[in-house]
Amino acid sequence: MAEKYNLVGISGSLRRDSYSTAILLTLVEAVADRATTAIADIGSLPHYNADLDTDAPPDEVRRLKDQIARADGLIVVSAEFNHGIPGVLKNAIDWASRPVFKSPLRDKPVLIITESPAFTGGVRAQYQLREAFASALARPVPTPEIVIGTVQSKVAGGRLTDRAAIDFAAAAIATLFHEIDQLHRATTA
Ligand SMILES: Cc1cc2nc3c(=O)[nH]c(=O)nc-3n(C[C@H](O)[C@H](O)[C@H](O)COP(=O)(O)O)c2cc1C
Repeated sequence: MAEKYNLVGISGSLRRDSYSTAILLTLVEAVADRATTAIADIGSLPHYNADLDTDAPPDEVRRLKDQIARADGLIVVSAEFNHGIPGVLKNAIDWASRPVFKSPLRDKPVLIITESPAFTGGVRAQYQLREAFASALARPVPTPEIVIGTVQSKVAGGRLTDRAAIDFAAAAIATLFHEIDQLHRATTA
Protein backbone atom coordinates (compact mmCIF):
# COMPACT_ATOMS: atom_id res chain seq x y z
CA MET A 1 0.00 0.00 0.00
CA ALA A 2 1.38 3.38 -0.95
CA GLU A 3 -0.31 5.38 1.80
CA LYS A 4 0.23 5.04 5.52
CA TYR A 5 -1.42 2.14 7.28
CA ASN A 6 -4.35 3.05 9.48
CA LEU A 7 -4.19 1.15 12.79
CA VAL A 8 -6.07 0.96 16.07
CA GLY A 9 -3.98 0.40 19.20
CA ILE A 10 -5.59 -1.18 22.25
CA SER A 11 -3.99 -1.47 25.66
CA GLY A 12 -5.55 -4.07 27.94
CA SER A 13 -4.81 -1.99 31.02
CA LEU A 14 -6.36 1.21 32.35
CA ARG A 15 -3.53 1.75 34.85
CA ARG A 16 -1.83 5.15 34.52
CA ASP A 17 1.69 3.65 34.57
CA SER A 18 0.69 0.54 32.64
CA TYR A 19 3.46 -1.52 31.05
CA SER A 20 1.02 -2.56 28.30
CA THR A 21 0.34 1.06 27.40
CA ALA A 22 4.06 1.87 27.52
CA ILE A 23 4.81 -0.95 25.07
CA LEU A 24 1.94 0.07 22.80
CA LEU A 25 3.04 3.73 22.69
CA THR A 26 6.66 2.75 22.00
CA LEU A 27 5.64 0.63 19.04
CA VAL A 28 3.20 3.22 17.72
CA GLU A 29 5.99 5.81 17.78
CA ALA A 30 8.46 3.38 16.19
CA VAL A 31 6.23 2.92 13.12
CA ALA A 32 4.83 6.46 12.97
CA ASP A 33 6.42 7.03 9.56
CA ARG A 34 4.49 4.05 8.16
CA ALA A 35 1.25 4.02 10.17
CA THR A 36 -1.26 6.34 11.78
CA THR A 37 -2.60 4.79 14.97
CA ALA A 38 -5.70 5.73 16.95
CA ILE A 39 -5.52 4.62 20.57
CA ALA A 40 -8.86 3.13 21.62
CA ASP A 41 -10.45 4.29 24.87
CA ILE A 42 -11.76 0.99 26.18
CA GLY A 43 -12.03 2.27 29.75
CA SER A 44 -15.07 4.36 28.85
CA LEU A 45 -17.07 1.44 27.46
CA PRO A 46 -20.07 0.27 29.48
CA HIS A 47 -20.22 -3.37 30.51
CA TYR A 48 -21.45 -5.45 27.61
CA ASN A 49 -25.22 -5.67 27.71
CA ALA A 50 -27.14 -7.10 24.78
CA ASP A 51 -30.01 -4.76 25.60
CA LEU A 52 -27.72 -1.82 24.69
CA ASP A 53 -26.28 -3.60 21.65
CA THR A 54 -28.72 -2.15 19.14
CA ASP A 55 -28.42 -0.12 15.95
CA ALA A 56 -28.00 2.92 18.23
CA PRO A 57 -25.43 1.70 20.78
CA PRO A 58 -23.78 3.92 23.43
CA ASP A 59 -21.49 6.57 21.86
CA GLU A 60 -18.34 4.95 23.26
CA VAL A 61 -19.26 1.67 21.60
CA ARG A 62 -20.03 3.34 18.29
CA ARG A 63 -16.69 5.18 18.43
CA LEU A 64 -14.73 1.96 19.03
CA LYS A 65 -16.54 0.07 16.29
CA ASP A 66 -16.06 2.94 13.82
CA GLN A 67 -12.35 3.13 14.66
CA ILE A 68 -11.97 -0.59 14.04
CA ALA A 69 -14.07 -0.51 10.86
CA ARG A 70 -11.85 2.24 9.40
CA ALA A 71 -8.60 0.53 10.41
CA ASP A 72 -6.41 -1.73 8.31
CA GLY A 73 -5.37 -3.66 11.41
CA LEU A 74 -5.07 -3.70 15.20
CA ILE A 75 -2.21 -3.83 17.68
CA VAL A 76 -3.32 -5.19 21.05
CA VAL A 77 -0.97 -5.15 24.04
CA SER A 78 -2.16 -6.71 27.28
CA ALA A 79 -1.25 -8.12 30.63
CA GLU A 80 -2.60 -11.42 31.91
CA PHE A 81 -5.04 -11.45 34.81
CA ASN A 82 -5.58 -14.74 36.63
CA HIS A 83 -4.29 -16.70 33.67
CA GLY A 84 -6.62 -14.95 31.26
CA ILE A 85 -7.68 -11.82 29.41
CA PRO A 86 -8.21 -8.76 31.64
CA GLY A 87 -11.96 -8.16 31.90
CA VAL A 88 -11.80 -4.64 30.50
CA LEU A 89 -10.20 -5.93 27.31
CA LYS A 90 -12.56 -8.88 26.96
CA ASN A 91 -15.44 -6.43 27.35
CA ALA A 92 -14.09 -4.34 24.46
CA ILE A 93 -13.67 -7.42 22.26
CA ASP A 94 -17.21 -8.53 23.07
CA TRP A 95 -18.65 -5.16 22.04
CA ALA A 96 -16.54 -5.03 18.87
CA SER A 97 -17.43 -8.62 17.93
CA ARG A 98 -21.10 -7.92 17.22
CA PRO A 99 -23.11 -8.44 15.08
CA VAL A 100 -21.86 -11.99 14.96
CA PHE A 101 -19.93 -12.86 11.77
CA LYS A 102 -20.49 -9.31 10.42
CA SER A 103 -18.66 -7.25 13.01
CA PRO A 104 -15.93 -4.69 12.26
CA LEU A 105 -13.42 -7.26 13.51
CA ARG A 106 -14.18 -9.61 10.65
CA ASP A 107 -11.08 -10.15 8.47
CA LYS A 108 -9.12 -7.59 10.49
CA PRO A 109 -5.46 -8.51 11.04
CA VAL A 110 -4.67 -8.29 14.77
CA LEU A 111 -1.18 -8.31 16.25
CA ILE A 112 -1.32 -9.60 19.82
CA ILE A 113 1.40 -8.80 22.35
CA THR A 114 1.33 -9.74 26.03
CA GLU A 115 3.52 -8.73 28.94
CA SER A 116 4.01 -9.66 32.56
CA PRO A 117 6.46 -9.25 35.41
CA ALA A 118 6.60 -13.06 35.34
CA PHE A 119 8.89 -14.97 32.98
CA THR A 120 5.80 -16.34 31.20
CA GLY A 121 5.00 -12.89 29.76
CA GLY A 122 1.23 -13.37 29.79
CA VAL A 123 1.33 -16.28 27.36
CA ARG A 124 -1.93 -17.78 28.67
CA ALA A 125 -3.79 -14.55 27.94
CA GLN A 126 -2.07 -14.52 24.57
CA TYR A 127 -3.77 -17.77 23.64
CA GLN A 128 -7.14 -16.67 24.97
CA LEU A 129 -6.84 -13.46 22.94
CA ARG A 130 -6.07 -15.43 19.80
CA GLU A 131 -9.19 -17.54 20.45
CA ALA A 132 -11.42 -14.55 21.12
CA PHE A 133 -10.30 -12.72 17.98
CA ALA A 134 -10.58 -15.88 15.89
CA SER A 135 -14.12 -16.29 17.21
CA ALA A 136 -14.93 -12.83 15.84
CA LEU A 137 -13.43 -13.92 12.47
CA ALA A 138 -10.52 -11.51 12.90
CA ARG A 139 -7.09 -12.65 11.76
CA PRO A 140 -4.52 -13.02 14.52
CA VAL A 141 -1.23 -12.27 12.78
CA PRO A 142 0.84 -15.45 12.31
CA THR A 143 3.95 -14.60 14.27
CA PRO A 144 5.76 -16.32 17.10
CA GLU A 145 4.04 -15.38 20.37
CA ILE A 146 5.17 -11.88 21.27
CA VAL A 147 5.43 -12.19 25.03
CA ILE A 148 7.48 -9.77 27.08
CA GLY A 149 8.42 -11.30 30.41
CA THR A 150 10.10 -9.57 33.38
CA VAL A 151 8.57 -6.45 31.92
CA GLN A 152 9.37 -4.29 34.94
CA SER A 153 13.04 -4.34 33.90
CA LYS A 154 12.25 -3.47 30.28
CA VAL A 155 10.11 -0.36 30.65
CA ALA A 156 11.30 3.03 31.90
CA GLY A 157 9.81 6.50 31.65
CA GLY A 158 6.62 5.18 30.09
CA ARG A 159 8.37 3.48 27.17
CA LEU A 160 9.73 0.03 26.32
CA THR A 161 13.51 0.34 26.51
CA ASP A 162 14.69 -3.23 25.97
CA ARG A 163 16.28 -3.40 22.52
CA ALA A 164 15.68 -7.14 21.99
CA ALA A 165 12.00 -6.80 22.91
CA ILE A 166 11.58 -3.76 20.64
CA ASP A 167 13.23 -5.57 17.71
CA PHE A 168 11.12 -8.69 18.31
CA ALA A 169 7.91 -6.66 18.33
CA ALA A 170 8.99 -4.54 15.36
CA ALA A 171 9.49 -7.68 13.28
CA ALA A 172 5.96 -8.72 14.21
CA ILE A 173 4.63 -5.34 13.09
CA ALA A 174 6.34 -5.90 9.73
CA THR A 175 4.35 -9.14 9.52
CA LEU A 176 1.17 -7.21 10.39
CA PHE A 177 1.86 -4.82 7.50
CA HIS A 178 2.54 -7.79 5.22
CA GLU A 179 -0.80 -9.36 6.20
CA ILE A 180 -2.59 -6.07 5.50
CA ASP A 181 -0.92 -5.84 2.08
CA GLN A 182 -1.90 -9.42 1.23
CA LEU A 183 -5.49 -8.79 2.25
CA HIS A 184 -5.57 -5.54 0.28
CA ARG A 185 -4.26 -7.29 -2.83
CA ALA A 186 -6.79 -10.10 -2.45
CA THR A 187 -9.74 -7.73 -2.10
CA THR A 188 -8.71 -5.39 -4.92
CA ALA A 189 -7.68 -8.12 -7.41
C1 LIG B 1 -5.93 -9.10 39.24
C2 LIG B 1 -4.54 -9.42 38.72
C3 LIG B 1 -4.27 -10.69 38.29
C4 LIG B 1 -3.01 -10.99 37.78
N1 LIG B 1 -2.78 -12.25 37.30
C5 LIG B 1 -1.61 -12.52 36.69
C6 LIG B 1 -1.41 -13.78 36.06
O1 LIG B 1 -2.24 -14.65 36.06
N2 LIG B 1 -0.22 -13.99 35.41
C7 LIG B 1 0.75 -13.03 35.35
O2 LIG B 1 1.78 -13.26 34.73
N3 LIG B 1 0.58 -11.82 35.96
C8 LIG B 1 -0.56 -11.55 36.61
N4 LIG B 1 -0.77 -10.32 37.18
C9 LIG B 1 0.29 -9.32 37.11
C10 LIG B 1 0.10 -8.45 35.87
O3 LIG B 1 0.46 -9.19 34.74
C11 LIG B 1 0.99 -7.22 35.97
O4 LIG B 1 0.57 -6.45 37.06
C12 LIG B 1 0.97 -6.43 34.68
O5 LIG B 1 2.17 -5.76 34.51
C13 LIG B 1 -0.18 -5.44 34.66
O6 LIG B 1 -0.21 -4.82 33.40
P1 LIG B 1 -0.12 -3.26 33.25
O7 LIG B 1 1.23 -2.85 33.74
O8 LIG B 1 -0.30 -3.01 31.78
O9 LIG B 1 -1.21 -2.65 34.09
C14 LIG B 1 -2.00 -10.00 37.74
C15 LIG B 1 -2.31 -8.72 38.21
C16 LIG B 1 -3.55 -8.43 38.69
C17 LIG B 1 -3.85 -7.01 39.15
